[in-house]
Amino acid sequence: MEYTLITGASGGIGEALAHGLAARKHHLVLVARNADKLSKMRDELTTKYQADIKIIVADLSNRDAPLQLFNETQRQGLNISMLINNAGIGSSGEFTDINLSSELSLLQLNIVSLVTLSHLYLAEMKKKRRGTLINIASMTAFMPVPYMATYAASKVFVRSFTEALTQEYKPYGIQVMLLSPGLTRTNFNEAAGLNSKKGNALSSNYATASTQTPEEVATETLNALGKNKHFHISGKKNRWGMRILALLPNKMITKYMADSYRKKTNQKM
Ligand SMILES: NC(=O)c1ccc[n+]([C@@H]2O[C@H](COP(=O)([O-])OP(=O)(O)OC[C@H]3O[C@@H](n4cnc5c(N)ncnc54)[C@H](OP(=O)(O)O)[C@@H]3O)[C@@H](O)[C@H]2O)c1
Repeated sequence: MEYTLITGASGGIGEALAHGLAARKHHLVLVARNADKLSKMRDELTTKYQADIKIIVADLSNRDAPLQLFNETQRQGLNISMLINNAGIGSSGEFTDINLSSELSLLQLNIVSLVTLSHLYLAEMKKKRRGTLINIASMTAFMPVPYMATYAASKVFVRSFTEALTQEYKPYGIQVMLLSPGLTRTNFNEAAGLNSKKGNALSSNYATASTQTPEEVATETLNALGKNKHFHISGKKNRWGMRILALLPNKMITKYMADSYRKKTNQKM
């Protein structure tokens, strides 16, 4: 029996992907820190879709957690034919005002854990010459973002890494896809401080900003997957926005963003 493993499955985009995949008859391994939420999801998805749902509680910002997760799926004899590296956190504010250990934790989760899991599971998929890897980046993967410097840079890594793997693993019949969502209504923004007054200066006010629901992002992702795509930016407006931004030099974009953030937050230098 084949399983799809989703990290960060207890909420937001990961939870929506779990519902979408279970509805398409995928058996799932759901991974996150919140054990209660994962148990509830297991019960709900099992009843609703008759899928086999396993849960594994893990804090993937811990150095040893990705290997422990892999070993646990091996111990249970689970054949992971699709890995979705979705778990990720953000941060915002002036770089040196953000706690250093939380920035390093972000890098551990958004980059190191994603690389480790990709390495471990891709090696298994390569042996079987079959499998799918989806890595979740962000619109911030396409440009530096002042006052969100570490998060945006982590997603630049995810984009570059994933686009390279796409070509490396094509000959083995393995589909590697990069998904870049825009602003999505999940807990992410609260956790990254983007719902605060200062945070709004970066993400713009929710009431007026162009946002998607996690369900919309999940539906687009699964459609792109079905069309054998390797790259998808969710949301029509986001795709157009990206095309326009690609025409401008990074220096112009970052200067505009930094000036605008300082103005909106009344920062005196
Ligand atoms: N929302 C947006 O606007 C947006 C935009 C672009 C890209 N993204 C990306 O989309 C992905 C999903 O974000 P989301 O918006 O769905 O966020 P979310 O609602 O905050 O969900 C994040 C998920 O990751 C899990 N998680 C967080 N820290 C973890 C850790 N240390 N170990 C294991 N799991 C952890 C959370 O579960 P637990 O708390 O239970 O661990 C939760 O299931 C992220 O990679 C994010 O960068 C989001």
